[in-house]
Amino acid sequence: MAPNAPRAVRARRPELDPFRPVRAALERVEAAIRGHLSTDDRMLQDVSTHLRDGGGKRLRPALVLLSGRAAGAPAEALCEVASAVEIIHMATLVHDDMVDGAAVRRGVPTVHAKWGQDVSVLLGDYLFAKGFGILSSQGNNRVVRIMSDVVFRMCAGEIRELVEQWDAGLGEAAYFSRVEAKTAYFIAECCRLGAVVAGAPQPVEESLALYGAAVGLSFQIIDDVLDLVASPETLGKPAGADLRAGVVTLPVLYALDHSPDAASLRSVLESRRVGDAEVALARNLIQRCGAVEYAYRRAAELAREAQVALEAAVDPSPARAALAGLAQHLIGRTC
Ligand code: FPP
Ligand code: MG
Repeated sequence: MAPNAPRAVRARRPELDPFRPVRAALERVEAAIRGHLSTDDRMLQDVSTHLRDGGGKRLRPALVLLSGRAAGAPAEALCEVASAVEIIHMATLVHDDMVDGAAVRRGVPTVHAKWGQDVSVLLGDYLFAKGFGILSSQGNNRVVRIMSDVVFRMCAGEIRELVEQWDAGLGEAAYFSRVEAKTAYFIAECCRLGAVVAGAPQPVEESLALYGAAVGLSFQIIDDVLDLVASPETLGKPAGADLRAGVVTLPVLYALDHSPDAASLRSVLESRRVGDAEVALARNLIQRCGAVEYAYRRAAELAREAQVALEAAVDPSPARAALAGLAQHLIGRTC
């Protein structure tokens, strides 16, 4: 958790296992991922194993499972779709690390750092094809359509992030629109997929997708705060990676508007050269002007919106309670 996260966030005891109602199903999803990525090709197996064992919260498959359970699907019907979304997520991170030139993720070398660019491109495509293969074997064309829309929007969001690099004049609306495309839509549609597999009525499907969209925005805000203020040890990667890459995030936008030293932050962005000293300066400035508290406040509002959306059409159940708890839990996370 960020050092100056609001006291209410720090004091909240995190639920020990926010995925509890689907923990057993998640084990089955893990086995399914292992099975899908198993190959006689030594090289592919090595790289896939490196990725699979490289940590990860398994948030997206858990959301498919929890939403599907909340909408009335049996866990067995959800595991294949849940494994496919995680494999597609892995593909996006392999490509993202290459785009970002990231050397480490979750404390382990990225595929890009260990095997280089050619393998990264090809492995990302391989995982992407695997994931869509699994989805297309579900016999439900909507599942494939939903996921292809996700990838389409994610790519557009990533491209927008490149276009908007170093832009100190970026408004909050542009930030939220980019985050919606690159992160929140995927999370929203994982929730929708659970409802689709359950054959849930439209209001339930929409309610779960709205929940996911709000959780996705809140999740990315916390990611952006942690990138700036958490230690590299807890992050599992160098701090300030966004700023070094010129990615302007919510705490930076707030500081540009509210810090008495905004001019020095603006000139850091204008210089397009961000090293350790500039990250330290930005971190200091952001922590002193209330940007961290502001970002947590926005994330908490979104978590509440997520809970309201959830309660609008989804009947109470252990899975619904876990989804509600998860929206809060993600705000208190440390990495
Ligand atoms: C992480 O963001 C990355 C994403 C949210 C999306 C990445 C998507 C692509 C590269 C395009 C789709 C690719 C395929 C193969 C379908 P971040 O850089 O803010 O977060 P990080 O700190 O985890 O790197
Ligand atoms: Mg990245």
